[in-house]
Amino acid sequence: VKRLLFIGDIVGEVGLAHLEAVLPHLKATLRPDFIVANAENLALTGSQTRTGCGMTPELVARLFGAGVDLVTGGNHSWDGPASARVHEEARVLRPLNYGTAAPGRGAAIVDREGFQLGVINLVGRSTLPLADDPLAVIEVQLAGWSEVDAVLVDFHSESVTEKLALAYALAGRVTAVLGTHTHVPTTDLRLLPGGTAYVSDVGMTGPSGGIQGYAPEPFVQALRTRLPSDQPVSFATGPIEFGAVYVDVKGRFATAIARVEAPPPSRGT
Ligand SMILES: [Fe+2]
Ligand SMILES: [Fe+2]
Repeated sequence: VKRLLFIGDIVGEVGLAHLEAVLPHLKATLRPDFIVANAENLALTGSQTRTGCGMTPELVARLFGAGVDLVTGGNHSWDGPASARVHEEARVLRPLNYGTAAPGRGAAIVDREGFQLGVINLVGRSTLPLADDPLAVIEVQLAGWSEVDAVLVDFHSESVTEKLALAYALAGRVTAVLGTHTHVPTTDLRLLPGGTAYVSDVGMTGPSGGIQGYAPEPFVQALRTRLPSDQPVSFATGPIEFGAVYVDVKGRFATAIARVEAPPPSRGT
């Protein structure tokens, strides 16, 4: 039996610092074989909410230093001046179904003691209208992965219907379809027919007390004016929410999916 730990959208250096503080405890108690984290909101790279998220190589390096095996993304994968450098790192994925010209790759395999975990990052067209059909694209990827033991899909989408439809289309063929993007944790964890673990949204690892980890003012202004806000985006300041699930895998298929309860910030404090 293998265990996959998946961490939902990490928001900001504060979310990263929290993860660094709790991961030693989680590694000791959960004993995950693989750790995958969505980090599209890791950095603040600009003043606008739509384009000012993303990652930097320095912050991503800290995730790998903490023990994360692969990093996934979404609509913010290409935010910020450092995004091209971020995608030079082979352990960083961006949505597979976003053409071939945009920087980065959308699938990768992690090998641990001969067990190969394939990870695929997809984005919904409810979130990125220019994206390719996620089902058609993943079918091609799966057809080329006969040697992979298990497959984890991070489906980054605004729409629960879109997430469920893709998950049912893949039920019994992939190990897990885990939803990201809304930053709101859902309680609908379940095993689909054939042993595919599913949750509509893993939730975020970032500061509470605002809108998806951010201070509300620019979003409220944009709602009022219907124009891009001139107020710079900044992080919310509440206690850190920890959005994560683990999936137990036997052979290719999931036997359990559960939320990781918010652990104490660090051992001994
Ligand atoms: Fe996000
Ligand atoms: Fe997103």
